[in-house]
Amino acid sequence: MAAVTGSIEGGPGRFPVDASTSVRAAQRWWDADADAYQHEHESLLGSARWLWGPEGWDDDDLDLLRVQAGSRVLELGCGAAAGARWLRARGVRAVGLDVSARMLQHSRRLDDDTGTVVPVVQGHAGQLPFRSDTFDVVATAYGALPFVADAGSVLAEVERVLARGGRAVLGISHPIRWAFADDPGEAGLTAIRPYFDRTPYAEVDDRGEVSYVEHHRTVGDWVDLVVGAGLVLDRLVEPPWKPDNPDIWGGWSPLRGELIPGTLIVSAHKPPGYTPG
Ligand SMILES: C[S@@+](CC[C@H](N)C(=O)[O-])C[C@H]1O[C@@H](n2cnc3c(N)ncnc32)[C@H](O)[C@@H]1O
Repeated sequence: MAAVTGSIEGGPGRFPVDASTSVRAAQRWWDADADAYQHEHESLLGSARWLWGPEGWDDDDLDLLRVQAGSRVLELGCGAAAGARWLRARGVRAVGLDVSARMLQHSRRLDDDTGTVVPVVQGHAGQLPFRSDTFDVVATAYGALPFVADAGSVLAEVERVLARGGRAVLGISHPIRWAFADDPGEAGLTAIRPYFDRTPYAEVDDRGEVSYVEHHRTVGDWVDLVVGAGLVLDRLVEPPWKPDNPDIWGGWSPLRGELIPGTLIVSAHKPPGYTPG
C-alpha cells in the first residue's frame, strides 16, 4: 500500500511511462524507500499477517485466500512478506516474489524475528521465475500491479504459473480513488480528475529520471485483463471500512472509507481444463 507522494494535481505529474521504465522506477523507488516504508507501516502490516488493505481487514475476516496446509501459494510483490509468513505459520507452502532487494532484506529480518522463514525470490511480476502450473493460489495485497505499465503481461504470468483450477486473488487500490485527491481529509472527498484518464501518475528525480510511477486502470479494464489472460472472474470484492478502525494510511482514512471504497480485490480462477489457444 503505497501512499502517493508529491502533488497529483495534474500537469507535470501525469505522462505516459513505458513498461521497462516503470519496472526500473519501481525497483529503485522501493529499494530506496523500503526502510522508511517498513518503519512507518510495520506496526500495521505486522510480521505475519495477511492485511488486505488500509480498511483493516485480515484474511481471517474476509476468507478470500481459502488455502489449506500444504497448498502452494505465491505472494506477488510481497514486500517484507508478512502475508506469506502468516500462511507459512499455518503450514501453507507460501513463497514470495518482489522486485526490490531491500524489501526482501526486510523479509529476512522478519524471518529471524519470528522464526518463520519465507522463501523469497527477487524478480519482476511480469517475468515470473517459476514453472507453469506450479501454484494453487497467486495472491497479493497491493504488490506489483499498481506499479506496472503492462498489467496484461503480469496477468498472463499469473495464469501460466497457476495450476489448473488454481486461484488468483489480487488486491489493488480501488480504481475510483484515481478521480480523487490522495488526501485523507475533506480535500479527498471531491472528484478532481477523470476516472477514465489512464495516464499514469509519475515523479521525476533531479537527474530527470522517472523515479516513481503508479498506473491506473478502471474496474472494467481489470475485468478485461483478467478475462483476456484466460482466467474466469469469480468475485470483485470492495471491503468497507472496518468499524472502529481509526488508522490513517496515506489517502485512506475513516472519513473517506465511510464514503468510497479504497481497495478492490479481484478473485478469479484458471479453468480446470484450460488449454492456451
Ligand atoms: C505496497 S507494497 C505491497 C507489499 C505488502 N503487501 C505491503 O503492503 O507492504 C508493494 C510492493 O510491490 C513491489 N513491486 C513493485 N513493482 C513490482 C514488480 N514489477 N514486480 C514485483 N514486485 C513489485 C514493491 O517492491 C513493493 O514491495
